[in-house]
Amino acid sequence: MSGAVRIGTTPSRQARILGVGAHRPPRVIDNAEVCTWIDSSDEWIRQRTGIVTRRWAAPEVGVVDMAEDAAAKALAAAGLAGEDVDAVVLATVSHPYQTPAAAAIVADRLGATPAAAFDVSAGCAGFCHGVALGADLVRGGTAGHVLVVGVDKLSDFTDVHDRSTAFLFADGAGAVVIGPSEEAGIGPTVWGSDGGQADAIRSKVSWLQLREREAPAAGAAAEQVAVEAAAAAPEQAPWPYLEQAGQTVFRWAVWQMAPVAQRALDAAGVRAEDLDAFVPHQANARIIDAMVKQLKLPESVRIARDIVDMGNTSAASVPLAMERLLADGEVPSGGLALLIGYGAGLSYAAQVVRLP
Ligand SMILES: CC(C)(COP(=O)(O)OP(=O)(O)OC[C@H]1O[C@@H](n2cnc3c(N)ncnc32)[C@H](O)[C@@H]1OP(=O)(O)O)[C@@H](O)C(=O)NCCC(=O)NCCS
Repeated sequence: MSGAVRIGTTPSRQARILGVGAHRPPRVIDNAEVCTWIDSSDEWIRQRTGIVTRRWAAPEVGVVDMAEDAAAKALAAAGLAGEDVDAVVLATVSHPYQTPAAAAIVADRLGATPAAAFDVSAGCAGFCHGVALGADLVRGGTAGHVLVVGVDKLSDFTDVHDRSTAFLFADGAGAVVIGPSEEAGIGPTVWGSDGGQADAIRSKVSWLQLREREAPAAGAAAEQVAVEAAAAAPEQAPWPYLEQAGQTVFRWAVWQMAPVAQRALDAAGVRAEDLDAFVPHQANARIIDAMVKQLKLPESVRIARDIVDMGNTSAASVPLAMERLLADGEVPSGGLALLIGYGAGLSYAAQVVRLP
C-alpha cells in the first residue's frame, strides 16, 4: 500500500537571478607595488595576465564582512530583505575557520535566520556551483529565495614572495539572489572535476602540518606529519599559502574549458550570437581571449574583463564581473550571459543565465 502514498507535492517552477551586488575593497595595489615583493615588471604582469591593478581588503576586513556587504546590495537590488531569504550558499576557499560555515554568520548578520546556510569549496568555480545549487533549490521547491555569494580574501593566503602567485591573487565579494520565475532564467549547469590534478592548485601545508610545526607532538605519526610539512615548504614560514602549477592550470583552462562553456550553451539551447555577455572566471586575460576565440563569440557579445583592475578574486570573480557589466551599462538588464568558473579541484561549472 505504501507505494501509493505520496510524500507531499513538488512544485514545478523556474528560477532566475533577481539581483546582484558587489564588494570591491578600497585598497588598490598596482604592479609597481607587487614588484617590490618579487622580481618582476609591470610590463611582464600586464602581458602575461592582463592585470594592471588588484584590490586587497584591509587586515580587519574578513570574508564574512565582504560577503555581508555584497549580499546586502544584492538583496536591495532584488527589492528583498534578509527575512525573505530561505538559504545562503557561500562559495569560498579563504574563510579562515574550518567551522562553522561563513554562510551561517552572514545569514545572521543579514537577518536571514533561520535560513539554511552552508559553504561550498570549489575554488574559483565555487560561485557557479552555488548558482547551480540555488537554481535547483528554487526549482525543486526546497527554497523560495536563495542568496548565492562568491567571496575570497586570497591576500591572507598569498605568499607575497612567491613569483608564481603574488601578482595574481586578490580580494572581493559578489552575490546574487535567486528566486522563482515563470520563465527559465538559469540554464542547465555543466560541471565536473578532475581530482587527479588536485596538486595543480592547493594549500602548501595542511592545518595538521601547521600544528606540528608550531608544537611538534610525540609519536611516529606526528613525526611523519612534521617531516611532510618541512618537505612541502622547506624555507617558507609555516602558513597554508596557495601554490599553483601555472602552466598546467593555464593549459587545462585554455583547452578544456571552452568545450565546457560550449556544452552549457548547447544545454540551454542558446547560440553564441544570442548572448549579450560572456562572463568567464577572471584568472588571466590570455585565457579569456583564447576561450572567446574557441567559442567563436561575435563582436556583439560583451566580454567581462574585470581582471584588469581586480586581479583573480577566485570565487568572487564571476559575480563581480557580472555586476560591473550591468553597473557600467555594457549589457542590458534581462540580457543573456554565459558564465563559467574553473579552478582548484580541478573543478568547473558553467551555465547560461538571464541577467537581473
Ligand atoms: C601564472 C602565469 C601567469 C605564468 O605565466 P607563464 O607564461 O605560464 O609563465 P612561465 O611560468 O612559463 O614563465 C615564463 C617566463 O617568465 C618568467 N617569470 C615567471 N614568473 C615571473 C614573474 N612573476 N615576473 C617576471 N617573470 C616571470 C619565467 O622565469 C620564465 O622566463 P624564461 O622564459 O626566461 O624561463 C600563467 O601560467 C597563468 O596564468 N596560469 C594560470 C593561472 C590561473 O589561472 N590560476 C588560477 C586558476 S583558478
